[in-house]
Amino acid sequence: MVGNLVVILGDQLSLEISSLEKIKKNEDKILMMEVSNEIEYVNHHKKKLVLILSAMRHFADELKKNGFNVTYIEFDKSKKNFTKELEYQCTKCNPKSIKITHPSEYRVLEEVKKWEKLLDIPVTILEDTRFFCKIDEFSEWAESRKELKMENFYQQMRKKYKILIDNKVNPEKIFFELFKNKVSEKISSNNDEGQIEIIYDNCSNKINFKSSEILLDSILNNNIDVPYSCQGGVCSSCIARIKKGKIDMKTNQILTNQEINEGLILTCQSIPKSKNIIIDFDDV
Ligand code: FES
Repeated sequence: MVGNLVVILGDQLSLEISSLEKIKKNEDKILMMEVSNEIEYVNHHKKKLVLILSAMRHFADELKKNGFNVTYIEFDKSKKNFTKELEYQCTKCNPKSIKITHPSEYRVLEEVKKWEKLLDIPVTILEDTRFFCKIDEFSEWAESRKELKMENFYQQMRKKYKILIDNKVNPEKIFFELFKNKVSEKISSNNDEGQIEIIYDNCSNKINFKSSEILLDSILNNNIDVPYSCQGGVCSSCIARIKKGKIDMKTNQILTNQEINEGLILTCQSIPKSKNIIIDFDDV
């Protein structure tokens, strides 16, 4: 039997993470898992996956070198989700309790919240102290708002910590800020129209677009819920393959020339250059 079973997720790779704070090296055990659900729930660029898994494995090695007792589960298609694997590990080591730092993703948090009842083991979710803002602070801010705009929340945080604030301007005097998408600035005022077919999650949708609009914006404006994140050409979440037509990519910090030649595009940076375009989010 072990004391606490400390679960560390792939975005919690820090020796300062709260779940490691009171860990007892001779009693507690750390569990890190590569499970297929986390890899497959949205499309990721291969390089991003390699980076994350490599970082996890290096971190596990670092923990072992520091004398922690670590069980590391490497990727295997049959290991579907955290809960199933955790359940199996608990039958092996029978921990007194499970500890985890608050997952950053709501989806994962909802899964973690079910563990205590499902496994019949006490589960402690610790605050993630790496963030400037506590969840309660955000909830308090959100409670009194009619409209939840992250831009307004970030502005409040920047005022509080005096970050990214023009030194000549008193933060208390900033009431409104205007941000522009860099890509939009580069687009000509060409208003030609065309049609895009979007394949995502085995469904096909056709929409009309204006060639003055970024591909991702056209898709989202038509309420098609494709993956994206940074909208700055950095994260690769919006990656798709162009099957027909031409686009122009304004910024790209992740795709190699070979990948571009093979048809991969970042939709958040793509401006249509043909009247008929087919893009496939599934084939990446
Ligand atoms: S959304 Fe991040 S690169 Fe497109």
